[in-house]
Amino acid sequence: MDRIRIRGGNRLTGRLPISGSKNAALPLMATALLTDEPVTLTGVPRLADIRTMSALLGQHGVEIVDRSVQEPDEDRLGAVLELAAPKILSTTAPYDIVRKMRASVLVLGPLLARCGKAEVSLPGGCAIGTRPVDLHISGLEAMGAEVSIDQGYIHASVPAGRLKGARVVFPKVSVGATENLLMAAALADGETVLVNAAREPEIVDLGLCLQAMGARIEGLGTDTIHVQGVDRLSAARHPVIPDRIETGTYAMAAAIAGGDVLLQGARIDTLQAMVDILRRAGIAVTEEPDGFRVACAPGSVKGVDAMTEPYPGFPTDLQAQFMALMCTASGASMITETIFENRFMHVPELMRMGADITVHQSSVLVRGVESLTGAQVMATDLRASVSLVLAGLMARGETIVNRVYHLDRGYEELERKLSACGADIERIADDE
Ligand code: EPZ
Repeated sequence: MDRIRIRGGNRLTGRLPISGSKNAALPLMATALLTDEPVTLTGVPRLADIRTMSALLGQHGVEIVDRSVQEPDEDRLGAVLELAAPKILSTTAPYDIVRKMRASVLVLGPLLARCGKAEVSLPGGCAIGTRPVDLHISGLEAMGAEVSIDQGYIHASVPAGRLKGARVVFPKVSVGATENLLMAAALADGETVLVNAAREPEIVDLGLCLQAMGARIEGLGTDTIHVQGVDRLSAARHPVIPDRIETGTYAMAAAIAGGDVLLQGARIDTLQAMVDILRRAGIAVTEEPDGFRVACAPGSVKGVDAMTEPYPGFPTDLQAQFMALMCTASGASMITETIFENRFMHVPELMRMGADITVHQSSVLVRGVESLTGAQVMATDLRASVSLVLAGLMARGETIVNRVYHLDRGYEELERKLSACGADIERIADDE
């Protein structure tokens, strides 16, 4: 397995281009199941999770053509993908693919809406928590689906032939359940109202693509979304929004390394909670015509508190990176995780690098230390892994981050982007 080697201490300066959002692209790809006409997505990040979603959709019958060569876009990273499902070949999402990526469950709503049936392997738990899918299932049941769980699979069917609009009140905010229901409701009979819906920018992006396909949706970006079902959806072309989590990760990289980096193409409006916290920590964040700039003198970061919340709150997907930043801040920081019950896997690894962290249930107290020292580290999920890369950027000596495949799931050209800004970082192939 490849590893990443970082020699810490370099400042980061320059421009760092932001890729399209992984968590927006995954549900956007699933919209192709809703129509027999092609959906074209631009700025799709080249990531392992996107390849997994392509494999899943491919076996359902979605033909995927990479049009990047015919349509090169100098200004944007990522691929131009055309996805077309003239016929659905299979309504089963098999265990072998779903186990690799939980977002596979996003095919459930679209398959039910288009075919009236779907069999999707239950994703099961993962490194950051149990992550049930009960909200996806109960929402679809409210729309007329019959669902049973058998031999590890969700078996869903629509006895009436077509899902019916319904009022779905989510007891808890869920990004994935909102996305599944939004896609299902687009083709349902009548009006669906999603109450306590997620407001994440990725949901808005999905809604905009569905609207371009002919869906009738109101209230995107609010907690109440109204969808008037239509009989059919058609072809559309849609640009994937810039990745706010990748943006936030590199914002913290710039701060931790005492640098000055322009996050090119980033959308500051999708990261207001993070920007407020970084500013309170003494980091300069300034909007620019083409993104925003993060600048910070070495050793000037102050300890501040943060609590993860659904959007527009501080994202759980930036909690680990923020913790790495706080490890060498002056003073202390209390970080509270409210979304996932087991998302502190990076703590013991950061402590191996010299961090002073105390965990108390869903909160940690980070007492800033003078500096970290390089070590061999590894993590069990994507954001925890990248937090160790950030720690390595400022640590004295050499840090080796193992299990790089986690990083490949969510960060396009991580080493190239960071080394172009001055980081001493490289991938070590398995056989070296
Ligand atoms: C999405 O996961 C993201 N993944 C996650 O990013 C992100 O951490 C999460 O939203 C929260 O922002 C994608 O977009 C592909 P949820 P999702 O449903 O949709 C509970 C990353 O690193 N819940 O909003 O699975 C759940 O257990 C990944 O890129 C239920 O109880 O998250 C959690 O506590 C990791 N029942 C909370 O809701 C359900 O049916 C929020 O989860 C569904 C969720």
